[in-house]
Amino acid sequence: MSKALDGVRILDFTHVQSGPTCTQLLAWMGADVIKVERPGVGDATRKQLADVEGADSLYFTMLNHNKRSLTLNSKNETGKEVLERLVKKCDVLVENFAPGALDRMGFSWERIQELNPKMIMASVKGFGPGPYEDCKVYENVAQCAGGSASTTGFRDGPPLVTGAQIGDSGTGLHLALGITAALLQRANTGRGQLVQAPMQDSVLNLCRVKLRDQQRLDTGPLKEYSQFGENVEFGDSTPRAGNDSGGGQPGRILKCKGWEIDPNAYTYFITQAAVWQKICDVIGKPEWKESPDYATPPARLSRLNEIFNEIEKWTMTKTKFEVMELCNPHNIPVGPILSMKEISEDLSLRESGTIVEVDHPERGKYLTVGCPIKFSDSAVEVTRSPLLGEHTDEILSDVLDYDADQIAAIRASGAV
Ligand code: COA
Repeated sequence: MSKALDGVRILDFTHVQSGPTCTQLLAWMGADVIKVERPGVGDATRKQLADVEGADSLYFTMLNHNKRSLTLNSKNETGKEVLERLVKKCDVLVENFAPGALDRMGFSWERIQELNPKMIMASVKGFGPGPYEDCKVYENVAQCAGGSASTTGFRDGPPLVTGAQIGDSGTGLHLALGITAALLQRANTGRGQLVQAPMQDSVLNLCRVKLRDQQRLDTGPLKEYSQFGENVEFGDSTPRAGNDSGGGQPGRILKCKGWEIDPNAYTYFITQAAVWQKICDVIGKPEWKESPDYATPPARLSRLNEIFNEIEKWTMTKTKFEVMELCNPHNIPVGPILSMKEISEDLSLRESGTIVEVDHPERGKYLTVGCPIKFSDSAVEVTRSPLLGEHTDEILSDVLDYDADQIAAIRASGAV
């Protein structure tokens, strides 16, 4: 079976998480991803959060599958020549260095266009143009600057960052989409272009419902937020809403049987209007079906705490999986709070290729998250991450056409 991005060659100048998630996705889709790393050092994550002595960390391996590794000192004169040759041979250059680092190496966007007008150059930076454009940024800074932290958590607690890496992996996803669109456009125009996905902008894009709520505040309280029913006045910005659903169908996280000892014995329960009558029957409150205080969504908005307390009395008599089994036949939207342990043991995720076991020469077998996008005509096979410089000679010879003597000279120069 062919792959969606067969024939696309990517010069992967990324490190840590945001850039590598982007290029890993493109590699899964069939692109030849050449990861360029500093000789003897490599991506800093190779050695961060190390769990097996001497082996590449899970941090690195889980973000760099299906790539080839080339070591190259891009500040060495011979290294620069090799890099220029690579720029001419690749379709896409992806980078997430600190602002200005690529320019300091001598590879500005203008220079790259001179070398290869068809090049698509894709960049992640913390911020777009503006007062913070020169700042270095990591995941949680982006979550804070993009509006996520101020709207996550409980009203009476501090802002919270989320476990989902929306700043890094979320930006990587946005960038991958931009690159594939630019490749499609290039097929028509013959020209490359610069694609930029700032982390703040990507987080904000994922938080757009909170900017929606910011504007709704101008016309009155946010009635679907618990604080409305609690008669707590709204301030001038979108508040933290705990586990409120954030949409038009109120929802909450509710305790299930065993919650006293199991930190994940909870369910998410959505009181979707379309199945309200069924919810009343399931939880043993048939009188709510016709009562004017409960029968309509607007009537329920000021009573959400009371309603969810009653539903929780019922969910506490069931396990989170029993809640699922009992509600699903009635089309009541619920979901168990799954722990990472439960997810890692989930057979259906294994069968779909979303959880994959990979073998690695230094660390043995480990689990990873495979490609979450499924294609009917582009197989995704997850292969292990490369060792540092594992493919240096292969790439110098096959991609850049250097002969054995030239490769020896490049090695002698300390460029790789
Ligand atoms: N050969 C020679 N030098 C290399 C090299 C190579 N193959 N690869 C990297 N370098 C150099 C860079 O040119 C830079 O040198 P300079 O400072 O003299 O210009 C240096 O290594 C460090 O790169 P930098 O990107 O500044 O790394 P850092 O570890 O100091 O900062 C980040 C890390 C993530 C904070 C920063 O890269 C950043 O803000 N990136 C953009 C936002 C981002 O992606 N953040 C999320 C990361 S998950």
